[in-house]
Amino acid sequence: MPDPAVSERSNPLDMIASAHALLVQMCDAMERIADGLPDEVDRRLCAQVASCLQYDLPLHHHDEEEGLFPLLRARAKPEDGVDQILERLAAEHSSDNDFASEIAEALETLGQGGRPANPEMLGYMLRGFFERYRRHVHWENQLVMPLARLRLTRDDLDQLAARLSENRRHVS
Ligand SMILES: [Fe+2]
Ligand SMILES: [Fe+2]
Repeated sequence: MPDPAVSERSNPLDMIASAHALLVQMCDAMERIADGLPDEVDRRLCAQVASCLQYDLPLHHHDEEEGLFPLLRARAKPEDGVDQILERLAAEHSSDNDFASEIAEALETLGQGGRPANPEMLGYMLRGFFERYRRHVHWENQLVMPLARLRLTRDDLDQLAARLSENRRHVS
């Protein structure tokens, strides 16, 4: 049965854009948590952010690295100069995935009512992460998404939609 969220009529780039909006919200939530450490933290928010870091973030990186980036690399013109940018963004994904699972573990403890082992260190990690990740999404929104909307053909978009759908089948 076709997934209505990834129907052929929808533009899969809009799904990527929604993921960016969600991840920016996640960064804002991380900032609120960091500001409230060690005692004024919203435990529900901690649990939500932990889940976002463990599931939504790696899934989104997967969508970009297996779907969007290769299609864009193949379709971009030499003057777009996109290869280096995509390489750098992919390198950031890999370090952010590692960092995210470490932070998620600490936030899960908080979400379950525990206290952070080292609140200062957690605050430092949260701030490092959301500051860097906001920049990451900013560059993707400024450079990658407009170029993708310009260069990807209908066929590319269908391939991307199929890939996003496939990535979600593995998760569920
Ligand atoms: Fe990315
Ligand atoms: Fe992204």
